[in-house]
Amino acid sequence: MEDTAIVTSIHLSNSPTTADTGDAILEVTGGSSLSGQVAISGAKNSALVVMAATLLTSQPCRLRNVPHLVDIDRMGEVLSALGLTLNRQDQALEIVSPTLTTTQAPYDLVSRLRASFFVIGPLLARTGMAQVPLPGGCAIGARPVELHVRGLQAMGANVHIDHGTVHAYIPGQTGRLRGTKIYLDYPSVGATETLMMAATLAQGETIIENAAQEPEVIDLANFCRAMGGRIRGAGTNTIRIVGTHELHGADYEIIPDRIEAGTFLVAAAITRSSLSLAPVVPEHLTAIVAKLQEIGGQVLLEGPNQVRYQPGSRILPATIQTGPFPGFPTDMQAQFMALLAHGDGTSLISETVFENRLRHVAELNRMGADIRLNGNSAIINGVPRLSAAPVMATDLRASAALVLAGLAAEGTTVIQGLHHLDRGYHNLEGKLQRLGAKITRHRA
Ligand code: EPZ
Repeated sequence: MEDTAIVTSIHLSNSPTTADTGDAILEVTGGSSLSGQVAISGAKNSALVVMAATLLTSQPCRLRNVPHLVDIDRMGEVLSALGLTLNRQDQALEIVSPTLTTTQAPYDLVSRLRASFFVIGPLLARTGMAQVPLPGGCAIGARPVELHVRGLQAMGANVHIDHGTVHAYIPGQTGRLRGTKIYLDYPSVGATETLMMAATLAQGETIIENAAQEPEVIDLANFCRAMGGRIRGAGTNTIRIVGTHELHGADYEIIPDRIEAGTFLVAAAITRSSLSLAPVVPEHLTAIVAKLQEIGGQVLLEGPNQVRYQPGSRILPATIQTGPFPGFPTDMQAQFMALLAHGDGTSLISETVFENRLRHVAELNRMGADIRLNGNSAIINGVPRLSAAPVMATDLRASAALVLAGLAAEGTTVIQGLHHLDRGYHNLEGKLQRLGAKITRHRA
């Protein structure tokens, strides 16, 4: 094992500590309209995997536009435990990993952040071995990782699972994975990203077919290319990676968060407000914008990376089916359910990506919504107005949906379970307050 790096303590961001979120509540008083412009942060689901990708090089990397989120802090703890040195400077994050002190990701950290599993591909490709605990399931589903494992095995790794930990190593003398053709049974975002990262240092070419096409996959590919990786086809269903012996450091800016942007677009729609958002990448919002227009709103381009929502006179019913990009994003499903819950007519939402991502239905019904579940679909009979109630967030995007419902409900909604919210949104209440919403965070 290479000599030990100096592992520094990490103070990554000013995201709320557990004490802030563990027993905090949000109080949202409905009825205010929003106005002005909201700043969109860097994409959580890009920053997390790009942070893991810095393991692919021993040279310093500088990531810009990294959001201040609990999940980002947790990924930083995992990388620090592996021997990386991290230094947060406001929206930037410097990561140096000259030598790794271990190839074992600690269970207590991995169990708190599923995305920590992303370290397995880079660790294996860089050092020839990796021991990463299986990420547990979570509120929205079992979240298996067999597509990641089978892909690494196809590239020549010996991978077995023992006592809840995935043990991977590269047999033989080369110490390198072998490029090969991999077909993914499902266009899994995580599996595509794991295999793309592993392939950057493999011997020969890897072709990933039926690959995920999400913007965050493209962002990761662009970061790996900035490090000298040879990747083509990211954003299509076939990605080709030609492995190299090593990658160099890079200075890279993370894309804006399309799900945060979509959440604020729905906040404008649900309060019938006109609202500007920047920065955004308009082509990342196509499915969200199309559905908002179908529901009666308008989304206008105000500049190359700025859009404006204009409300319509009504909230029309719609049918939504979530799916892999460019389909409708599952991460926006709960937010649209809050919107359609107090629209006109009957809407239908089908969740096809995760098996248990409709738990916000019960909470919305506590607020006077009229939603019936039928398997992985929800039938939503719009009601004129939701009514405030004490509600409990069940997962990250469901908690955002309850905030949105509270913005339009009659009375003051009290939301518990903020630890979910703070994983994926930095200071959501502060951003909404500045737009005119009546929302405050209190200690319970
Ligand atoms: C990523 O999760 C995102 N997380 C999720 O965002 C997002 O909802 C999801 O992609 C879909 O867009 C991050 O990027 C950190 P998948 P991931 O692999 O990679 C099944 C949020 O709210 N599957 O595309 O885990 C899986 O169970 C989070 O920000 C297997 O069966 O998503 C799921 O049903 C939530 N076997 C479906 O595929 C596997 O080996 C999609 O999962 C891998 C996945």
